[in-house]
Amino acid sequence: MSAKMTAPKVRGRKGGDPIKMVTAYDFPTARIADRAGADIILVGDSVANVVLGHGDTLAVSVDDMIHHTAAVARAEPSALVVGDMPWMSYHVSPEDTVRNAGRFVREGRAEAVKLEGGRKRLDMVTAVLDAEIPVMGHLGLTPQSVHAMGGYRVQGKQAAAAYELISDAHALAEAGVFSIVLEGVPDVLAELVTREISVPTIGIGAGRKCDGQVLVFHDVVGLGGGEYLPKFVRQYATLADDAVAAIEQWFADVDSGEFPGEDETYHMPAESAEILRNLSAHPSTSGPVIADDILADEAMEI
Ligand code: KIV
Repeated sequence: MSAKMTAPKVRGRKGGDPIKMVTAYDFPTARIADRAGADIILVGDSVANVVLGHGDTLAVSVDDMIHHTAAVARAEPSALVVGDMPWMSYHVSPEDTVRNAGRFVREGRAEAVKLEGGRKRLDMVTAVLDAEIPVMGHLGLTPQSVHAMGGYRVQGKQAAAAYELISDAHALAEAGVFSIVLEGVPDVLAELVTREISVPTIGIGAGRKCDGQVLVFHDVVGLGGGEYLPKFVRQYATLADDAVAAIEQWFADVDSGEFPGEDETYHMPAESAEILRNLSAHPSTSGPVIADDILADEAMEI
């Protein structure tokens, strides 16, 4: 088991070994991610899409996210557990934001939280940091802004927008976030941000010059059921196909009588089986009385 990852340790990885972050949403996926050597497990609000079947991330609540974060934390990973604050949980007021972030830590056992947005959310970020909760920033294609962005579009393609994003990254870093996710931005922009700010950047669809990379668990292992995969995903396994094949094979074994086999079956002592067979071959209306007698004999024999 490797040493426990912490937010300050992630912060210290700036410019060092690439930071590996993957999402997980429950106990088994957290254990797999941790066994694979993840530095950070992000309980992403992408749970809405990949686990709960929603069309966007706006559908999940703080309660939903805490439910999944707590399941991940119960795996007791060496990786840092980051809970993703859902839409409207950090938009109303700093007080409301701190209360929600506190629930992630107390009820979900998260060790840090992630918030989308830059200077617009700075008051909220600062308030959470003041409550001693480490914060991960998230800039670029921020899925919770899907309607404001007019769809899931690569951000910062024009110099002016890119410049705004760099200013947001500076503001977050100066506020004290321990890392920033850069999602869906041109590689040049991600490289510039990474070079300019003092905290690690973790890219998803942001090229290879970030301090780390993050992908969605189900995308990496092919558990998504064959839907559209974004350009930046590399799929390393086909677990959904493997699972279908496994269950089909089991059903075929049920049909053929091949399942369950001897090894998959519970047995009783031969004498008890014999008594039981006799009993059922000579049913009696006073069943329980006769059965008690016979079972008493059986007990004496044993
Ligand atoms: O919710 C999520 O999975 C994320 C990552 C893609 C960064 O925010």
